Amino acid sequence: MNDDRQNGAMIRLQGLSKSYQTADIETLALDGIDIAIERGEFVSIMGPSGCGKSTLLNIIGMLDSPTYGHYFFLGEDIAGYGERKLANIRKAHIGFIFQSFNLIDELSVRENVELALLYHKIPAKERRARADMVMEKVGIMHRAKHMPSQLSGGQQQRVAVARALVAEPDLILADEPTGNLDSAHGQEVMDMLRALNDEGATIVMVTHSPSHADYAKRTINLFDGHVVTEDIREVI
Ligand SMILES: Nc1ncnc2c1ncn2[C@@H]1O[C@H](COP(=O)(O)OP(=O)(O)O)[C@@H](O)[C@H]1O
Ligand SMILES: [Mg+2]
Repeated sequence: MNDDRQNGAMIRLQGLSKSYQTADIETLALDGIDIAIERGEFVSIMGPSGCGKSTLLNIIGMLDSPTYGHYFFLGEDIAGYGERKLANIRKAHIGFIFQSFNLIDELSVRENVELALLYHKIPAKERRARADMVMEKVGIMHRAKHMPSQLSGGQQQRVAVARALVAEPDLILADEPTGNLDSAHGQEVMDMLRALNDEGATIVMVTHSPSHADYAKRTINLFDGHVVTEDIREVI
């Protein structure tokens, strides 16, 4: 790897746009986004409903591809990559946390967490050990054999955080991770994200909550697919 790749931003989006074509209408969900995110940053993304926050996060997470522009991830322009290549980068680097937890109802807590390692060619015994370690870390070990439906929302989100962490990602993407939680459980998730960031993980989080956005040093405000302002603050 050359110096550029090692010293550059973790994420660099240049002139990035995304349009969705449905029947006879075209929606420009993102319109000329230029953003750089350094390794170790904690960035929040805010803006009204429909302004493109999830689209941006999904593109950063390689779940969706831009229509125009460049996306440099660790110095490599991945904008035109196919699904296989993207899946490999995703697996090696990225963990996701969603508003609606997205756990698999038919699997136990432990199985949900282990599932995230299934495509990593890791022996079963080590999968289990790693799943147990992250469940311990997020305080859900005592529910390892429960099914998701037997857990509170706060507990389900802990499982989702464990699942996001088990492959030891260096980038964590969270789309309104506290959106379905009461304030106490929301606070717990935010404290977990802060601890992960303190340990070195890069975090990009979409939120509607100004107090949760304050956990990040930088907030990117979106409106109609554009970056309108960026706020930098002293972290509370
Ligand atoms: N799969 C899709 N097909 C068509 N339009 C979409 C799709 N996903 C998002 N959009 C549109 O793109 C815009 C941005 O959506 P989204 O990124 O979900 O906004 P936010 O997360 O800020 O609420 C909206 O107008 C939405 O309707
Ligand atoms: Mg959204």
